[in-house]
Amino acid sequence: MPKTALITGITGQDGAYLAEYLVKQGYVVHGIKRRSSSFNTDRIDHLYQDPHTENRNFILHYGDMTDSLNLTRIIGDIQPDEIYNLAAQSHVKVSFDTPEYTANVDGLGTLRILEAVRMLNLISKTRIYQASTSELYGLVQEVPQNEKTPFYPRSPYAVAKLYAYWISVNYREAYGMHVSNGILFNHESPVRGETFVTRKITRAVSKIALSNQRELYLGNLSAKRDWGHAKDYVRAMYLILQQEKPSDYVIATGVTTSVREFVRLAFASIGVDVVFTGEGLKETAVITAVDKSLFCQKVSEEAYDKFVKRIGEVVVGVDPNYFRPTEVDLLIGDPTKSKTKLGWEPEYDLHALIEDMMLGDMILMKKEDYLMKGGYRVLNYFE
Ligand code: NAP
Ligand code: GDD
Repeated sequence: MPKTALITGITGQDGAYLAEYLVKQGYVVHGIKRRSSSFNTDRIDHLYQDPHTENRNFILHYGDMTDSLNLTRIIGDIQPDEIYNLAAQSHVKVSFDTPEYTANVDGLGTLRILEAVRMLNLISKTRIYQASTSELYGLVQEVPQNEKTPFYPRSPYAVAKLYAYWISVNYREAYGMHVSNGILFNHESPVRGETFVTRKITRAVSKIALSNQRELYLGNLSAKRDWGHAKDYVRAMYLILQQEKPSDYVIATGVTTSVREFVRLAFASIGVDVVFTGEGLKETAVITAVDKSLFCQKVSEEAYDKFVKRIGEVVVGVDPNYFRPTEVDLLIGDPTKSKTKLGWEPEYDLHALIEDMMLGDMILMKKEDYLMKGGYRVLNYFE
């Protein structure tokens, strides 16, 4: 019999990569998606199977992390071997605007899953992965951060995730449940949500190169993150649930980089040198040189002729609207435990990650460029 997995948050970045990975491992994958007024399944459309297909191995259910009855019914119907609880309001800045909702989904949502498994007498059958986060370390008490580093959350998101972390540990200890926390550091990809900083940068750099955007505005350029690739990180989730005993693991690359440096590397990947000058709100990045052959190879010859005229111009500025009321300045993980106990090794370093993201966004933005130039007439509802 193939194993059965249930993924909450299957329409998100990690959900999509994990679903693809588990299907390849021979699992029957069930996912919970929210009802929305427009399609929200872009990332998993390639896995979709018509409901009339026999022996489907990819099945979606409508549901919501705020709806206990719905979650309990789905878990009872499927009786999964593994649950990957990835659903969350996952944007840190947005959590300051929607703190109650974030607590409900990210904190109580986890409790709902744990209670459902307990009430349905699935404790001995179902293993649970909880999507914990390096945001728990917040105002870091130790550098680098490992499984024993004390937590100091700095946002409603991180506080909600702190509850989820500890309620998972508590159910493990109180009821002997196979529940594990993956304390994942930032991980990105070509399908990363567009408002997280890496994707915001790779999209903007692609558009700027094609002359469809003049400037990119960011918040705190000095924040440092330990960035990995989502493809590597979903493999770690799977490995965590294959362990005989449940435990908590840091998943990270062990390398940290500033937002400012990420911007510089994204431009450099298409042959553009930018230099940052000024301080605080007045800090900007200016184009200083363009490598013609790399730019033509990665963008296009047509775009080069226009872009080269922008040498000396500002392409990045600071907008305080993107600052957070309380910031997490530095994250860097120590993945020793996951490397030794899980045998986990990331395949992507930061350069490979940026190459992958830039390639994806350049293809996407060239398509948009084509559409903007009249390749397709955009429907206007108010015409
Ligand atoms: P993401 O792209 O924002 O995906 C979040 C998923 O949760 C989406 O499928 C979303 O549905 C779903 N969701 C949100 N609210 C829901 C609700 N009320 N009910 C049901 N589903 C809901 O996030 P991600 O980057 O894949 O991250 C996956 C998980 O890992 C999250 O829990 C996140 O907090 C955590 N995490 C992420 C990172 C990272 O760097 N990516 C690091 C550490 C931990 P829609 O598609 O409909 O919005
Ligand atoms: N989003 C965003 N937009 N962030 C910016 C910007 C901007 O314009 N300018 C600077 N930043 C800084 C943020 O202040 C933060 O310090 C850093 O870039 C990273 O921000 P995000 O990409 O939004 O990610 P995050 O670190 O806050 O949260 C992500 O990683 C966590 C794991 O550490 C999310 O995926 C969380 O769900 C996840 O738990």
